Amino acid sequence: ARAADARTPGAGPVVHAHRGASAYAPENTLAAVDAADALGIAWVENDVQRTKDGVLVVLHDTTLDRTTDAEQVFPDRAPWAVKDFTAAEIARLDAGSWFGPAFAGARVPTFAQYLNRVERNRQKLLLEIKSPEVYPGIEKEILRVLRQKGWLDRRHVEQRLVVQSFGAESVKIVHAQRPDVVTGFLGTPPVADLPKYAAFTDQINPAYTTIDAGYVAAVQKLKGAHGKPLRVNTWTVNDAAKAAVVAGFGVDGIISNNPDVVRDATR
Ligand code: G3P
Ligand code: CA
Repeated sequence: ARAADARTPGAGPVVHAHRGASAYAPENTLAAVDAADALGIAWVENDVQRTKDGVLVVLHDTTLDRTTDAEQVFPDRAPWAVKDFTAAEIARLDAGSWFGPAFAGARVPTFAQYLNRVERNRQKLLLEIKSPEVYPGIEKEILRVLRQKGWLDRRHVEQRLVVQSFGAESVKIVHAQRPDVVTGFLGTPPVADLPKYAAFTDQINPAYTTIDAGYVAAVQKLKGAHGKPLRVNTWTVNDAAKAAVVAGFGVDGIISNNPDVVRDATR
């Protein structure tokens, strides 16, 4: 089988829907997963965090106020940190109205609910462990839920799952606990440091503003944790002109709020 993160020979970069197709539906909701599916985008990127009572949820910010109505529902709970709310409290919040009335009532999905939807749609998951320093031990819990949901079987691990983080230690933990899982490091390490990263990761995933063709080639020259060329998925590229430029750098993948735009610009 082709590796989970490989691009199809002759095709453009693999397009990933950032927080789901987040230009079209509220980020990190099931609606955003479905919006990506409706566009024919297989890969969805998300962000996973942990509630006060230990439930994994899908949300980008470490606070609830930007993308939910937490300020209205819990006016005395500033700064509305995810880690200070139970899963039952978070389940009461509206995570869609801020984006538009058509999405009123969308919820912050639990990670388990999110996996169910990605599975139902036969999509693939670029999972980000968000702010791991806030959630000690979250890697083990993520792996536990992935296993429970069937996402650590061979078919998923080989073709449908990548786990990434800005936290190098977090990526190392995932690689140590499940060496079969494809991993990514978010950032732009200096070229001289890349071999250290290649020991535990398969992808170097930098902001597009930090790279050029030379950097991409330097990454891809090395072999990653699974003995295949280190890959580069860059973010967050939302317009056609920028997509064409970074595709010209030779990146393996592009992460975008507008994945359809990027796909059309790079085919
Ligand atoms: O997947 C890359 C990108 O999501 C990293 O930045 O802040 O959107 O999580 P952020
Ligand atoms: Ca992310």
